[in-house]
Amino acid sequence: MPAAGSGLYVGLMSGTSLDGIDAVLVDFSSGTPRLAASHHVPFADPVRAEALALCAPGADEIDRAARLSNALAQLYAEAVAATLARAGVPAAEVEAIGCHGQTVRHRPDAGYSVQLVNAALLAELAGVRVVADFRSRDLAAGGQGAPLVPAFHAAVFRDAREHRVVVNLGGIANVTDLPPLGTVRGFDTGPANILLDAWAARHLGEPFDRAGRWAASGSADEPLLCEMLADPYFAARPPKSTGRERFDLAWLERHGVATRRPQDVQATLAELTARTVAEAIARECPGAAAVCVCGGGARNDDLMARLARLAAPVKVTSTAALGVDPEWVEAMAFAWLARQALLGRPGNLPEATGARGPRVLGAIYPA
Ligand SMILES: Nc1ncnc2c1ncn2[C@@H]1O[C@H](COP(=O)(O)OP(=O)(O)O)[C@@H](O)[C@H]1O
Ligand SMILES: [Mg+2]
Repeated sequence: MPAAGSGLYVGLMSGTSLDGIDAVLVDFSSGTPRLAASHHVPFADPVRAEALALCAPGADEIDRAARLSNALAQLYAEAVAATLARAGVPAAEVEAIGCHGQTVRHRPDAGYSVQLVNAALLAELAGVRVVADFRSRDLAAGGQGAPLVPAFHAAVFRDAREHRVVVNLGGIANVTDLPPLGTVRGFDTGPANILLDAWAARHLGEPFDRAGRWAASGSADEPLLCEMLADPYFAARPPKSTGRERFDLAWLERHGVATRRPQDVQATLAELTARTVAEAIARECPGAAAVCVCGGGARNDDLMARLARLAAPVKVTSTAALGVDPEWVEAMAFAWLARQALLGRPGNLPEATGARGPRVLGAIYPA
């Protein structure tokens, strides 16, 4: 049995970027969640390749998905063990693990979103209760099942005076509007790193464009940018969420990128991310005074500079300015969501997902 009320939860996030696993230990025993330890496990190439392959229809998917779910449980369990070792905390003291799993399909229009992980195996290997499958209940209640982080953003970043917007630059970008008074909302604006990473992989042979230096060496192609901006996703009003089903290399290729200089395409993609985020904030978050960025994109200096230029006079910083390392925000959100589930409290915000109402999210696998 987990120690009653230790307030310690593990959060596990592996997002659409397919970069790897972010693991955190969060201490909720005081009023504010405190990051007690963190650990990143990059995916080995075969795991990344198989997860990416399963994001599109293919042969023998049922067995392959089951095998990847088992492999992921193993990797998540190793990430948990490493995180707890760093903190010197035994597994028995952890109340639960909140595990997002690896998204391979996100089809809210069809009523489902699939995150792979064998949660039973993770509970068995870690010796800790696991909460997983957070999205299904929101979808069952008519929601998008995404984004799920806005409730956590509201819990930790909302301010009584300053109107803040939290922007998560993961594979996909999502924003959370935090007006001091009124309704907290959130939605996916479109691609953040998915396309930047794919283009960098193709032309640099690197998993991503470090600090955005390659993008900074090119110049954004305005006609190409306009063509991309015409995708109806960007003008659609929230609630909305998206993924690799829509924004993938095939989407990029439909825009005739082959005839452009690769570094100009990269610059255009960076501008696309910055512009769609800035425009979404201007349109949907009127009165915002501060934009606080989290996710791996916060380390992309070129992208941050573009966003700062387009969002001005609204100031752009990272969540580090609010005392939370941008790298770990999303993983911390899943520790928080696990705690909400165990306390029988809702994890979704109906204004963000479009669900019929607040719902307790997740399926619980006892230790
Ligand atoms: N130093 C860096 N320079 C540029 N981009 C970076 C850097 N570090 C991370 N990133 C970007 O952040 C991504 C990972 O962000 P993350 O928030 O983990 O996304 P996800 O939640 O989709 O996994 C990487 O794929 C990469 O695009
Ligand atoms: Mg990641």
